[in-house]
Amino acid sequence: MTGPVLVTGAAGRIGTVLRGGLPERGWAVRSLDVVAVPEPRTGEEHLVADVTDLAAMTDAARGASAVVHLAGISGESTWAAISHANIEGTYCALEAARRAGVGRVVLASSNHASGYTERPADGLLREADAPPRPDTYYGVSKVAMEALGSLYADRYGLDVVCLRIGSAFAEPTTTRQLSTWLSPADTVALVDAALRAPSPGFRVVWGVSDNTRRWWDLSAAEALGYRSTDDAEGHAAALVAAHGEPDLADPVHRRVGGEYTTADFDAENFTA
Ligand SMILES: NC(=O)c1ccc[n+]([C@@H]2O[C@H](COP(=O)([O-])OP(=O)(O)OC[C@H]3O[C@@H](n4cnc5c(N)ncnc54)[C@H](O)[C@@H]3O)[C@@H](O)[C@H]2O)c1
Repeated sequence: MTGPVLVTGAAGRIGTVLRGGLPERGWAVRSLDVVAVPEPRTGEEHLVADVTDLAAMTDAARGASAVVHLAGISGESTWAAISHANIEGTYCALEAARRAGVGRVVLASSNHASGYTERPADGLLREADAPPRPDTYYGVSKVAMEALGSLYADRYGLDVVCLRIGSAFAEPTTTRQLSTWLSPADTVALVDAALRAPSPGFRVVWGVSDNTRRWWDLSAAEALGYRSTDDAEGHAAALVAAHGEPDLADPVHRRVGGEYTTADFDAENFTA
């Protein structure tokens, strides 16, 4: 591994976790965001740029060993905002990597790329059984992200690993997240595995902790080298006491995308 990892969206929640955790695993970090990262770490390079600015992104990618692309709108919004930041932004991240000769890109996809997929009657849901079935314009942008990644892998030989992240927060705050939580430590472990796996080609993997209530299969992520060390179950007693045991017939618990599949998430309820 030569050269820093370019992390886009570095000032956000996941970016902040990675800026702390990747250096502990031997990666130098070059942070990029539209806003300045707060308190840059010793040795951290930091750039302010818009991920949809291809020239700036290509400059930023020069000399990097990989790109971890997080930047964008991280929930539902208007079509104009989502298509620009998330779809144009992902194109620019991949095209900048190609132009700068960076061989690996890790993409922050989402469970919402397949949000309407239902919980299997038994067993765990594999990525192969969760084809594109977006639950929002946001989910559409993650389908486009995976499609662009596939194109750049097949056409230009880039290694592209798409992480279908569940709920990457400091701790689970809803009963759904008892299934879908990706802890901060596991976020670092998953991205590290995606950066290190030998010649992965194109992969799509779920990004969750090894939660007791998990119903998304982790074998594809583990094939990359990911090992989860966290489980949301330690938060179950408090969350169930506050909100009740999850009703598995409820779309929030029955579908991959949870509440994003409900009428509350109709795009007309959102402004940019
Ligand atoms: N946190 C989760 O649970 C979760 C789940 C699934 C997928 N993801 C994906 O992971 C990524 C990071 O999520 P997060 O929770 O850290 O989100 P976040 O909203 O905290 O951070 C996103 C960052 O991207 C930056 N950004 C937005 N538009 C930009 C642009 N045009 N150019 C440069 N930077 C820009 C923002 O300034 C922000 O710092 C997102 O792509 C999100 O869709 C997150």
